[in-house]
Amino acid sequence: MLLGYSLLLFRSTTTKARLYSLAVDKEHRGKAVGRALLEATVQLARQRGSNSLQLEVSPTNLVAIRLYEAFGFNLRSRRRGYYGDGNDALVYALKLRDDLRELGASGSG
Ligand SMILES: CC(C)(COP(=O)(O)OP(=O)(O)OC[C@H]1O[C@@H](n2cnc3c(N)ncnc32)[C@H](O)[C@@H]1OP(=O)(O)O)[C@@H](O)C(=O)NCCC(=O)NCCS
Repeated sequence: MLLGYSLLLFRSTTTKARLYSLAVDKEHRGKAVGRALLEATVQLARQRGSNSLQLEVSPTNLVAIRLYEAFGFNLRSRRRGYYGDGNDALVYALKLRDDLRELGASGSG
């Protein structure tokens, strides 16, 4: 039986992982399955060496937003007309580790 899934995307050109999709079967929501899936997803992104994990969520999806914020995701921006129905998306990101380039490290020592 499939209770839920998460779809995590990695690209070789960026250290930003993207949580493309996360869903729990309707019959099994509210039983901490989503939280367990998100925990495993974050752990996988860390293991793969990603600096951050980014996702888009509808501003009306308060359950998902609450879950992401509880994990420490921060609101980064709003994408106008992102969804097929013309609705905006909120872009959330979780920092997994410091990006050395952002800190200004040159790698020379
Ligand atoms: C979002 C989703 C994955 C959460 O999965 P879930 O298994 O029901 O969530 P959990 O039981 O693990 O709950 C984790 C947190 O989510 C939030 N949450 C869950 N159900 C909630 C509800 N009915 N009302 C408000 N917040 C809720 C809470 O913050 C909760 O933490 P808490 O129990 O400490 O309060 C699930 O609702 C889902 O599949 N929704 C449809 C698909 C979707 O919207 N995916 C996200 C797209 S970006």
